[in-house]
Amino acid sequence: MSTSTRRFIFWILIVLFFIHSLLVFTIGTDEDNGKNLMTEEAQIGKLLFQKYNCTACHQLYGLGGYMGPDLTNMISSPGKGEIYARTLLQTGTQRMPNFHLTEEEINSMVAYLKYVDKTGISPVKKFKINFDGTISQK
Ligand code: HEC
Repeated sequence: MSTSTRRFIFWILIVLFFIHSLLVFTIGTDEDNGKNLMTEEAQIGKLLFQKYNCTACHQLYGLGGYMGPDLTNMISSPGKGEIYARTLLQTGTQRMPNFHLTEEEINSMVAYLKYVDKTGISPVKKFKINFDGTISQK
């Protein structure tokens, strides 16, 4: 291959590289990852989630306490959803305390859970409590 042909190919590749880079950096993706769901209400919900320390018992994306289930996708789980979450937050259960949240606080919390649900997928893991009190994944 002659030197001029090599140079020609080299410059073609350089130009293609810049065109490719330009496209990669300017074309966005259509994924919205729930960004439009991070409303003011959901932000308040996020702060409440921290205030009441829900992570002491619950995980988001597998991180948090293990007494309650992972809440990342609970809103879209079959048989669960918004009404289920509201009821649980209003009443508590034998193992989950009733936080005596106001209607507004529950709305914000549900808005936050809806937002989290849209951000990705984190399957609920099953844990078992060992005889010595430690917890391991099933
Ligand atoms: C003391 C531990 C504890 C704390 C703190 C706690 N939870 Fe729970 N939560 C549980 C347990 C345990 C369950 C599973 C239901 C049961 O077994 O009673 C649960 C269930 C839930 C569920 C239903 C999940 C599902 O997939 O069925 C939601 C929603 C929920 N909690 C939200 C919250 C929120 C929001 C907070 C913070 C305000 C919170 N929890 C704080 C223990 C806790």
